[in-house]
Amino acid sequence: MDNYRQRFLHLLEIQRRLGRERDLKRLPSLVMRVVTELLAADRSTLFLFDPGTMELRSCFAEGMAEESAIVVPLRSGIIGTAILQRKIFNLTDAYQHPYFNPEIDAHSGYKTDSLLVVPLIHGSGQVLGGIELLNKSTGRFTADDERLVEEAARQIVASGSIDSEPINEHITALHRRIEFDRGTLFRLDSHVGQLTAMYAEGAESFRISLNMKLGIAGLVAMTGIPLLIPDAYADPRFDATLDRRTGYRTRNILCVPLRAANNDALGVIQVINRLDGDFLDEDLDLLVNVAGIVSIAVESAMLFQDSERQFHSLLRTLAASIDARDSMTADHSKRVAQISLGIARELGFVESDLELLEVSALLHDYGKIGIDDAVLKKEGKLDAREFKCMQRHADLTFEILNQISFSRKYCNVPLIASLHHEALDGSGYPKNLSHKEIPFMSRILAVADVFEALTADRHYRKGMSINRSLEIIDDEVGRKLDSRAVAALKRYLDHGGLAALGLK
Ligand SMILES: [Fe+2]
Repeated sequence: MDNYRQRFLHLLEIQRRLGRERDLKRLPSLVMRVVTELLAADRSTLFLFDPGTMELRSCFAEGMAEESAIVVPLRSGIIGTAILQRKIFNLTDAYQHPYFNPEIDAHSGYKTDSLLVVPLIHGSGQVLGGIELLNKSTGRFTADDERLVEEAARQIVASGSIDSEPINEHITALHRRIEFDRGTLFRLDSHVGQLTAMYAEGAESFRISLNMKLGIAGLVAMTGIPLLIPDAYADPRFDATLDRRTGYRTRNILCVPLRAANNDALGVIQVINRLDGDFLDEDLDLLVNVAGIVSIAVESAMLFQDSERQFHSLLRTLAASIDARDSMTADHSKRVAQISLGIARELGFVESDLELLEVSALLHDYGKIGIDDAVLKKEGKLDAREFKCMQRHADLTFEILNQISFSRKYCNVPLIASLHHEALDGSGYPKNLSHKEIPFMSRILAVADVFEALTADRHYRKGMSINRSLEIIDDEVGRKLDSRAVAALKRYLDHGGLAALGLK
């Protein structure tokens, strides 16, 4: 079996098993079990990050006794490094790597050879933890294995089954460990020359902005060097403007920079007035560690907002580009998306699922970009060879979309989109899946696709009437098309869908 097909089947297997699981809290362990099995690893562990203690705590360990839970400081070992650097580590001999921490092996009597570590980062940038797989039976994890574990990590994150801590929780957790009066996270808005408070914690929370050219916070943001100021008013770099305005008295300050992966300044965390005496060097160390995690979150949150905007405009362009290939099928993708959403709303889908379905529908025929015009635009029936060629578009949809690194809720788009020609009785393509093997969203796409195709004008015929189209669809119910999706289509058409589609 070629790699592509094998990987596809693995993804499908994960998707299927997840689809059967109704208890959200059990999803991570289920994903871990499937991945361990598929990759033929001896052991695997899901580590979750605890911002309160800055530690990683193992849970859902496969191949290990329950009681041997592992707790490691974030700044330790390969797993901590993978998370902080947002990087995958794929090692053939873990002991040769300078970051490997052999203490856990020493404690458990286990010997780690090959090791694959993938970080778990929420779309909003929150660090959630990481996945670790140990000792592949063949001795070496492959690049395909890396991608599969990445997909699995995305599945776990997208399922929402792991609670993520909002950024301000990090500051609150910090407050439990250092007794300070005020702590503030400032974001750098360099275009307006200001540091703007994003989160404030302490006796009085307040919304403030600071001039980035003045004071300790500005200096730390600009230089990237953390500062511990034992006596603010004795330090010429301290700017007392805010104190004068608010009547507050700053005694001592701890301030650390937030930096992006490329070292760009993102902002600072500033902590003021230790309740009990002076700030210590170890307080500064702790704050630097917290800032490392918060930097990831702040940067990702900013990137995330940008990329969501870009993603949606790219998507509209992609969908329009397929429809533009052929003027006779213009707007097909858009209309299939509209019908799919109508069906899904009748079935009570939640908002995040509607978005996933809409994107999958918009891109379902994207593979047609790789089909010859002679076949794509042929008038009249296709012969057997041409039909085979046309069928390739479903596989191509997966291959092309799978190159896009979809985030969070969209990670299943390639799979759902590419299975829109599967049939319940297994006679469809490209994978000849049947019944429950076909994701439910793909079954909705199938119904919407057929209905749109029958009712729209084509090269070789005029669009059929609604009644005739629904008769044809009814004939396929249970054999090819899903009965719930078809019933929901009819309800949608009755509830205003016909008018919305301009069919009445
Ligand atoms: Fe299609």
